[in-house]
Amino acid sequence: MDIELNGIDGFAPPPFKIKSVEAIRLISREERERKINENGMNLFLLSSKDVYIDMLTDSGTSAMSDQQWAGIMTGDESYAGSGSFDHLASAVSDIMGFSYTLPAHQGRGAEQTFDKVLIKEGQIVPGNMHFDTTRAHIENVNGRAVDCVIDEAFDAGCELPFKGNIDIGKLEALVKKDPSRIAYILITATCNNGGGQPVSIENMRQTREISSKYKVPLFLDAARYAENAFFIKKREPGYADKRLREIAREMMSYMDGCIMSAKKDALVNIGGFIALNDKELYNRLAPVNVLMEGFPTYGGMSGRDMEAMAIGLYEGIDERYLAHRIGQVEYLAAKLDEAGVPLMKPFGGHAVYINGKEFMSHIPCENFPSQALCVECYLEGGIRGVEIGALLAGRDPDTGESICPKLDMMRLAAPRRVYMREHMDYVAEVVKSVFKRRNEIRGLDFEYESPIMRHFLSRLKWVEG
Ligand SMILES: Cc1ncc(COP(=O)(O)O)c(C=O)c1O
Repeated sequence: MDIELNGIDGFAPPPFKIKSVEAIRLISREERERKINENGMNLFLLSSKDVYIDMLTDSGTSAMSDQQWAGIMTGDESYAGSGSFDHLASAVSDIMGFSYTLPAHQGRGAEQTFDKVLIKEGQIVPGNMHFDTTRAHIENVNGRAVDCVIDEAFDAGCELPFKGNIDIGKLEALVKKDPSRIAYILITATCNNGGGQPVSIENMRQTREISSKYKVPLFLDAARYAENAFFIKKREPGYADKRLREIAREMMSYMDGCIMSAKKDALVNIGGFIALNDKELYNRLAPVNVLMEGFPTYGGMSGRDMEAMAIGLYEGIDERYLAHRIGQVEYLAAKLDEAGVPLMKPFGGHAVYINGKEFMSHIPCENFPSQALCVECYLEGGIRGVEIGALLAGRDPDTGESICPKLDMMRLAAPRRVYMREHMDYVAEVVKSVFKRRNEIRGLDFEYESPIMRHFLSRLKWVEG
């Protein structure tokens, strides 16, 4: 057994040591009560200085390495022909195998350019489960985002190894009705809105078959492609002895390209890109990207950010790093599981997803059980998680009714290389303590409902008790 990868008690040790620290402080319970009330029970509106352990997101919150910080100093800030862009494009080509890279300021910048070019009004983008900005950009150009994930993805307790998989039958039925209505197929790996669940190589291969059969392009939302590759190595027969770089290459070999928010697996605080092999499509995307993001050799990023990203792409696919990272998430999940806290299973890659619907079974969907859980965890111990449930789901565009999603969860996302095991122990104790008094907790109602992506800016209040 390789102790570096399997560690002690099954948890891999960190393949880094700490060179710089940032102070954090737990403000008092009274202050936390005041802050959350002032901010309409919305944790997005809190100031980070009032949060002790911030597990709102794993996006853009990574700690960069000394090598990346060194890259920041050597970034080439030329408007055109930046050497840092060359380093980035070469890392993308080396790791993913795509010849053309178009940088963007972050994932949604890439999505905006991509969808403007690829989607004609009324066209459909099927996928496993689209992330919310992805869906919003598709809808913004009058396209329709359709989720075709397997049904088991909605069963929080079901322990399938690849719950992010596309249901190939559902996909084919949709595509074959009218292939000309399909703009492209998108696989999101891992599947953020579905509990960080991975997609198998076999499923990617089968999706490629559909895409080739009906001549519809296939792309990957690669925000967490490295974590997905790690799960393939751990869970998919035939991959245990393969290097992660080989697995990542095989994943990409089924794709016509990818869109990536580099704020996740490229270990940077900002950035994204589109990568592909089709020169003609690149030539259609580049001018739009100039308009939306910037010249093709910077696309909304500074040279230093591209330099750090080029380095981060290599660090993010390192097996020792991933064994520790995914092990840390598993460590927290295992502690909560032991205490009987209902969780999404199997445990995902970047976050622990608590089944808020079951945790707060006495609170109806319209009173946001998982948001109430998020608020209580903040009150209890200054932890900031995020609701992935009814508040996020918003309203049905046709009926205007609030959507009651099948999965209603609180996500505790682990920033990369930021927190230690002691922090995870603390988080587990806080959640356990909320769990013990869950039946006393009330639901929430709107004080103000924000019209677009309402979870970001809405204000809530406790329902009358
Ligand atoms: C799967 C996925 N795709 C796209 C995005 C959007 O990326 P960004 O936040 O960089 O705009 C995210 C962000 O969390 C994501 O999780």
